[in-house]
Amino acid sequence: MFSRVSTGVKGIDEMLKGGFLPNRVILLRGGPGAGKTIFSLQYLLDGAKKGEIGLYVTLEEPVASIRRTAANLGFDLEKYEKEKLIGLFDGSRMVYKFGEEIKTSNIQKPLISNTVDQLQILVTSSGANRIVIDSITSAIIHQRFPTDKRLEVLELMQGLRKMNCTALITSESSSPAEEGFFVEEYLADGVIILSNSQHNFTITKTAWIEKMRGIKHDDQPRKYEISDNGFVVYATEPVTA
Ligand SMILES: Nc1ncnc2c1ncn2[C@@H]1O[C@H](COP(=O)(O)OP(=O)(O)O)[C@@H](O)[C@H]1O
Ligand SMILES: [Mg+2]
Repeated sequence: MFSRVSTGVKGIDEMLKGGFLPNRVILLRGGPGAGKTIFSLQYLLDGAKKGEIGLYVTLEEPVASIRRTAANLGFDLEKYEKEKLIGLFDGSRMVYKFGEEIKTSNIQKPLISNTVDQLQILVTSSGANRIVIDSITSAIIHQRFPTDKRLEVLELMQGLRKMNCTALITSESSSPAEEGFFVEEYLADGVIILSNSQHNFTITKTAWIEKMRGIKHDDQPRKYEISDNGFVVYATEPVTA
């Protein structure tokens, strides 16, 4: 029996009967404002509280903005950053700058290989065993062809699996119809979907575990909210309406 990696969101741990399996790559998909960044912060804070090192690689939201979100929610991010239990990195240069350099120089390595190499250096130097990449959408947006996109996502996920880390990767979209085909959902070990539904002019937010390889999990959508304390899931209440 494998030990579990708690997620930092109590209701999600209940839905997963304990948490993620270690060394897996989990995708967290949701639309804008769904709470992906807050969930990801809670995941790393949960590890930090137990002395586990976590890396947060942001590919679009500035690091300062993430710190502000955390401070507004009363999260101890600053403390754990000082203690080197959480590292926040602006990874946008990893992805975009290399893209430009590749165009203008004779670097032969594909973009994603460079990103994986950079991540490996960060993981090794920090000793992290939890990693967040927020979001994968930014990392693969330059790929026009589905086959290239699939290969990049595959390389990133395989790279992460070798790093001895449990990875949480966010993906930006509220419905599959928005982008057609989500390769990242097929390639990840687990997928958590955050969605909104409207009924009588009331929005209900739900979290649903679409898949989680190797785990017998709750397969129903459950209500969640972003409260003053962060991301909260009501794991035992059925969703009505
Ligand atoms: N201090 C807070 N108290 C309550 N809700 C908040 C607070 N801070 C942010 N939110 C809610 O969280 C949303 C943003 O969450 P975030 O994790 O950044 O979303 P995402 O990363 O999915 O775009 C905001 O749109 C707001 O609804
Ligand atoms: Mg976000």
